[in-house]
Amino acid sequence: MSFNQARKTWHGIISFTSIASVLVIPLSLIYPILSRPQAILFGVLISVFYGCDIVIEFRTPFLLTGELVVDRKRIASRYIRHGFLVDVLAALPFFLLVSVVRFPESPYLPLLGLLHLVKLIKANKLLKVMAEDKINPAILRLALLIFWIFMAAHLISCAWIMVSGNPDALAPSDRYILALYWTVTTITTIGYGDITPRGTDQILFVIMVQIFGAAMYGLVIGNIAGLLANIDVAKTQYKEKLEKLNAFFKYRNIPADLKHKIDSYYMYLWETRRGYNEISILEDLPGALKEQVALNLNREIIEKVPLFEKADPHLVRDIVINLKPAVFTPGDYIMRAGEYGDEMYFISRGSVDILSADEKTKYATLGAGSFFGEMALLLSSARTATVVAATYCDLYVLDKITFDRIIGRYEQFQKSIRQMAEKRRLEIEASQKK
Ligand code: CMP
Repeated sequence: MSFNQARKTWHGIISFTSIASVLVIPLSLIYPILSRPQAILFGVLISVFYGCDIVIEFRTPFLLTGELVVDRKRIASRYIRHGFLVDVLAALPFFLLVSVVRFPESPYLPLLGLLHLVKLIKANKLLKVMAEDKINPAILRLALLIFWIFMAAHLISCAWIMVSGNPDALAPSDRYILALYWTVTTITTIGYGDITPRGTDQILFVIMVQIFGAAMYGLVIGNIAGLLANIDVAKTQYKEKLEKLNAFFKYRNIPADLKHKIDSYYMYLWETRRGYNEISILEDLPGALKEQVALNLNREIIEKVPLFEKADPHLVRDIVINLKPAVFTPGDYIMRAGEYGDEMYFISRGSVDILSADEKTKYATLGAGSFFGEMALLLSSARTATVVAATYCDLYVLDKITFDRIIGRYEQFQKSIRQMAEKRRLEIEASQKK
């Protein structure tokens, strides 16, 4: 098991123990199960796990401004400043003590067992870290919020039973369900009023729960609205963009068919890249990271273009980090014969038609993995053909400066690309002679 896996497993154990303790400790305070061996064993386990957690924390390296700190003294001093106190408090065997040593004269002493629950602060952080790679962060926050509300409702229900007792002598499970019902109606501010407090203690308790309920209700509603909007940030932004565009097109009376074309273009962008703009994402990154991300993003094109298959890895890297994505819709002119151009294109998805200048002859249709526009760059001449997108096309553009640098540096690449250009030139000549 790797260090990271072991750490994750340990975090899982600690989170599980904390959650189990929220469920079990309050229940054990209201029902007479304190003296049962299982409850005592549970208390021992909590203290042992939390104690081990302290030892582990003293030995776990941490990241500081990107550097892994392994020095024991620095680890200890950081831990003592952050989290040590809470961990010690949670690990003290109070629950065990009050389970074993009964203090009938002091009914409040067992409440010390609740101190184990301070570990929940850590459990919340651990749960977030453990699930953040697997679950959408907004959904995770919402799920955790709902989970902790249930936990709070459980705690309040147990506290209510403690404060109000069991006047109707109900069975423990019925009493608990009734208390939970009361808690939920109170904290959701519904408050039917069918269960009312009796005596000062109960009234004071209810006031506290009502204040907590009102604050939490506001917090939850506000959070849920925010979180729902953030669950799919990309989709929300994309929808907003489309709505804005549509309002603008309506205002400027853009013809329906053009509007339809733009809509289809955005739909294509959504389907192929979830509306993200790769160029602007890369722009925000520092040089070295930009290279790595570009290599990953453009991996698809490296695999598709046969020219890159046996090419020197340095050449592939050189080209790939300089490629810029571009999208064309069906019927778009990518280049016209006779123009001067300073870019060549690699096709990642879709196909293009290579046409003569008068567009009467189709020289070829090129698909994914092919490239075009190399002839004008090689010969510093005008475009030999017109190129039109036959379908939606995902292309990658290579500029002339990079192209010149690369063919100057890698002879084999220059040879292959010249061969292809020569073959194409002959094809054009042959078709012109017909
Ligand atoms: P360029 O002349 O820069 O611009 C037009 C491009 O069309 C050209 O480079 C070639 O890449 C491509 N092309 C021209 N003729 C053919 C052909 N017969 N088959 C495939 N592609 C071609």
